[in-house]
Amino acid sequence: MSVKEENKNPAETAVKEKKQIAAKLIPVYIMGKRYEVPEGLTIMKAMEYAGYILIRGCGCRGGTCGACGTVYRKPGDYKLQVALACQKTVEPDMYIAQIPFFPANRALYDFAGLTAAPEEVFKLYPELFRCVACNSCTKACPQGIEVMDAISALKQGNIAEAAQLSFDCIQCGLCTSRCFGELAQYHMFQLARRIYGARIVPRAEHLAEMVKAVSEGKYDRFLDELKQVNEDELKKLYQEREVEPMAAGEDWKPKDTRYL
Ligand code: FES
Repeated sequence: MSVKEENKNPAETAVKEKKQIAAKLIPVYIMGKRYEVPEGLTIMKAMEYAGYILIRGCGCRGGTCGACGTVYRKPGDYKLQVALACQKTVEPDMYIAQIPFFPANRALYDFAGLTAAPEEVFKLYPELFRCVACNSCTKACPQGIEVMDAISALKQGNIAEAAQLSFDCIQCGLCTSRCFGELAQYHMFQLARRIYGARIVPRAEHLAEMVKAVSEGKYDRFLDELKQVNEDELKKLYQEREVEPMAAGEDWKPKDTRYL
């Protein structure tokens, strides 16, 4: 992160001033320095408004990539809070600091050689058993994941349960930043989901059939046809394509069956 040079362009300055008049400004403290920013902005936008150019700690801006972990404290509150900067809106007198990277232990492994035995996880992450069940991780999770429960499942060797409970994890690392036991929950969960996906969940037969059909050239002619159309036609085809309804039954088929 770096702070922009003061804006010397009068037109841009005028636009900025106009926006300031239109929006109520509130004071916030970013990395210890006071700024006035429009009410209603997310922490991320408030930082940019204040002049920060985010080259780390900023990715999807939609609460999905986990790049924008942030800690803040509100006036009169002893408690350090955590949030995603792209999701949490600023409040008056908030003290804000971003932690876009948290140095957590990530085990190295050759995934091809791993089985679904719980001991694999225990061996790679022995600190799993340092969990004191304080639940700080769950309270810190911006995704509402029952982090402690997922860790308990892993301790009991239930990789499937841990994978399912942690499905919405975006790897922001905020759980780890609050953990007394120094666990890297999000890396452990990633391993659990990998093992679950590759070794526990039954193979999807329809997917294997489709991969076979594609590799045998069943769709080559249609792909060649698509390659012939220009960008606008391609967009039109995409926008007008028949989409499977959300509540379609197992026997649903598109009207155009040429590609089945
Ligand atoms: S920028 Fe991706 S989660 Fe906030």
